[in-house]
Amino acid sequence: MKRRILFVDDEANLLEGLKRMLRPLRHEWEMEFVGNGAAALECLDRSNWDVVVSDVRMPSMNGVELLNKIKNQHPHTVRLLLSGQADTEVIMDAIGPAHQYLSKPCDAELLKTTISRACALGDLLQDEKIKQLVSQIETIPSLPSLYLELEEELQSCDSSLGRAAAIMSKDVGMTAKILKLVNSAFLGIQQTVTDPVQAVRYLGLDTIKTLVLTIKVFQQLDQSGSVGFDMQHFWHHSLSTGEQARKIAKEERAPQPVVEAALAGGLLHDVGMLLLLTYFPQRYQETLKLLANGECSLMEAEQETFGATHAEVGAYLLGLWGIPIPIIEALAFHHCPAKSLVQTLTPLIAVHIANGLIEEKDLQPLEGNSPCLDLAFLIELGLDDRLQNWRELL
Ligand SMILES: [Fe+2]
Ligand SMILES: [Fe+2]
Repeated sequence: MKRRILFVDDEANLLEGLKRMLRPLRHEWEMEFVGNGAAALECLDRSNWDVVVSDVRMPSMNGVELLNKIKNQHPHTVRLLLSGQADTEVIMDAIGPAHQYLSKPCDAELLKTTISRACALGDLLQDEKIKQLVSQIETIPSLPSLYLELEEELQSCDSSLGRAAAIMSKDVGMTAKILKLVNSAFLGIQQTVTDPVQAVRYLGLDTIKTLVLTIKVFQQLDQSGSVGFDMQHFWHHSLSTGEQARKIAKEERAPQPVVEAALAGGLLHDVGMLLLLTYFPQRYQETLKLLANGECSLMEAEQETFGATHAEVGAYLLGLWGIPIPIIEALAFHHCPAKSLVQTLTPLIAVHIANGLIEEKDLQPLEGNSPCLDLAFLIELGLDDRLQNWRELL
């Protein structure tokens, strides 16, 4: 089936340029090009679209307003924003509405790979089984507001560590948790860190933001009281996967955004388990029973009881929140990276390897006897000879 991509830009020559650039893809994608937000919304009302790519600056309804509307009215369409240099202020409002930004002028190859990856994510957001499962949840957890505030600070032109620390300090419990983490050898900080400003200085605003998101989400979905589920072990597994994924990305000299997203993906990779446990406790007990029989992996047991896995459900939630695509990808495919379209060391690959190596080493693997690493895929990517090195990093 052809992918359906909708492009929105008020400048006719830009739209023409895009059309020409993407013409070779017309056999794979069905594309439509419209000149304003209202026309885009009409298209979306008429039929289903996998991905919308919108310009930021447009008269009457700008790109952020448009994506906000699409987020509410068509939450299963993936939303990309094309922005120019001067759009930093508008972009601050786009956290949440947009899954990813692309800066203009955008080269054809980058646009093509970003849209293809967005389509793979779209498949997940439009999967009927997952949609049905999630629709049974009365109130879906919301994206923590503290995370949004920090993201806004991060995007502002004069972002400051002091201001970020002040934002974080508004939540005393959160600050205490972050300081405890920082002082627990997590992320390899040697000094004793005693105040929020120091913590932000050592870790950087990006990492703080990720920790805030993880802690808040885990608080909303706390399963300490759940029979047969060890929340402490889960927390520990998530922390180590995040830390290892970050180390692997660093070791491979991946760009900083990849390193940061590897940490976020690792910390949150199994969050779908918490979602299933919180909202479907009885059914999850059946899953755990199947797992305890030792005849199948956790993924197979979940598939049997829910028709979907923790990987897909977690990615779905982050997808609705508008978390960046590389992080969602890391959640969605952490047990089956070959199903993704990635070909280099992305956050997904770092998380897959980190999770696999940790489960391989763990005497009480969290996810049962799942096959840990997709060796064939790592060979295909030319990364298999690095495995020994990564094992030593653990
Ligand atoms: Fe998992
Ligand atoms: Fe895991």
